[in-house]
Amino acid sequence: MTSPNPTLTASPAWNALQTHHAEIRDTHMRSLFQADGDRGQRLTAEALGIYLDYSKNRITDQTLKLLLDLAEQSGLRDRIDAMFRGDKINATEQRAVLHVALRAAKDQSIVVDGEDVVPEVHAVLDKMAAYCDRVRSGQWKGHTGKSIRTIVNIGIGGSDLGPVMAYEALRHYSQRDLQFRFVSNIDGTDLSEAIQDLDPAETLFIVASKTFTTQETLTNAHSARDWCLAGLVDEAAIAKHFVAVSTNAEQVAAFGIDTANMFGFWDWVGGRYSFDSAIGLSLMLSIGPDQFREMLAGMHAMDRHFQTAPFEQNLPVLLALLGIWYNNFFDAQSVAILPYDHYLGKLTAYLQQLDMESNGKQTDLDGNPVDCQTGPIIWGAPGTNGQHAFYQLIHQGTKLIPCDFIGFCETLNPLGNHHDLLMANFFAQTEALAMGKTEAEVRADGVDDHQVPHRIFAGNHPTNTILIDRLTPESFGKLIALYEHKVFVQGTIWNINSFDQWGVELGKVLAKKIVPELASGSSQPLQHDSSTNTLIQRYRDAKPG
Ligand code: F6P
Repeated sequence: MTSPNPTLTASPAWNALQTHHAEIRDTHMRSLFQADGDRGQRLTAEALGIYLDYSKNRITDQTLKLLLDLAEQSGLRDRIDAMFRGDKINATEQRAVLHVALRAAKDQSIVVDGEDVVPEVHAVLDKMAAYCDRVRSGQWKGHTGKSIRTIVNIGIGGSDLGPVMAYEALRHYSQRDLQFRFVSNIDGTDLSEAIQDLDPAETLFIVASKTFTTQETLTNAHSARDWCLAGLVDEAAIAKHFVAVSTNAEQVAAFGIDTANMFGFWDWVGGRYSFDSAIGLSLMLSIGPDQFREMLAGMHAMDRHFQTAPFEQNLPVLLALLGIWYNNFFDAQSVAILPYDHYLGKLTAYLQQLDMESNGKQTDLDGNPVDCQTGPIIWGAPGTNGQHAFYQLIHQGTKLIPCDFIGFCETLNPLGNHHDLLMANFFAQTEALAMGKTEAEVRADGVDDHQVPHRIFAGNHPTNTILIDRLTPESFGKLIALYEHKVFVQGTIWNINSFDQWGVELGKVLAKKIVPELASGSSQPLQHDSSTNTLIQRYRDAKPG
């Protein structure tokens, strides 16, 4: 084992931040706002219709300067250029990292292994569009001649969380006579509940798997195939009711799906960065090719912003640096993502994979153990539901939890004064978290002495506010790319590879070993630790039949 690489935490920028942290860690935001009447206008950034207010953070101008020095010191500029150029920055897998190519303009050129990948990207988009038009118009008929009414996406991880999150986010723009379901869990309940009221003659399954070897997806796909054949009897039905999205044509063919009905993508797209590739076929079926392209245009605009904007105005860079400030200097363990839009109900779960699978690493790019904290725990739920569940802990608990509040000025569903009420809560929460309520203020309300300590709010809880005019395919695309690049910036500063995920492998390998041990009647000797042996034996003993 090599020794920890001291480069980052012994670096001048890091040391300067540490010293600065000791100076300002107890400074209250109340006094920062009192001392600077313009703080709420000054500590903001706006690009592409995305307004970021980061004034409610425990920072001064000096903090920002030192964080920007850290970004410069980390070689961020070169690393951004390397990613956009198609360099193989995913070093452990020797792969380029080019989700940005998925939304590149037609006239752009990005070369990987001597080949321009942009024409391929557009060829797949065109093929998807042609297919989606046929399904959406009812022209694509199932085996018995009926049109498709329900689309079931079978995938897991990035092949599920992205599609389902984006489908829900843009549901306002969807074709309402098609219904969509998403099956991911290997627990048979997921598939059973998803199909129990469906007619196979009107159902289309999308088997979405980058590798096409994922146990959960393949098991669900095989069971879906059995269900389809039980209803439609003829093997030829599979070609009409199953399509695949994958990089692995061989396995797709082995499953029995005609590769003419396969939509491809490439090893330079990570699973958690893939819903804007063919993995988003369900989304394109829902919102149509034009609006899918609007989403891609939004993502592309954010890519350009990230690539070209000076760091002090660069939204992903600013979000990333503020995250590092709390993660590495205040020892915050987590970040709460709090979207105030019901359509973004699955955004937090999606960002959980994006961030935690990317930056949940303990080894740096040189193979050394990291010597600082890396990716935070991402959690949260849409407002205002979270307010009535876990906000108590954010306001008065003992942990520091930086939060991102995401809201829209305009609602897509005007209904009485619902939106004003929603947004009043949105604005009130960040105000309360920052300013708190002092003992004097509590007493001024005439609160009984014994209750006073319980009703004091310390405040000084940091929040970012992201305010956007309206949730559209384009603004949604910008928002997602903003977070993708935020994760990239943090990974760059920590000098880790944000694009592999070896940590998920061990559990998968062990599960494969255990499968035959659980088979009915198995008396295979158990050679695990005593806890695992006992648990497996108990399961065997209780198993029906
Ligand atoms: O096990 C983790 C993972 O590899 C994710 O990174 C990925 O999104 C998911 O599994 C699904 O993989 P696939 O698309 O290859 O089925």
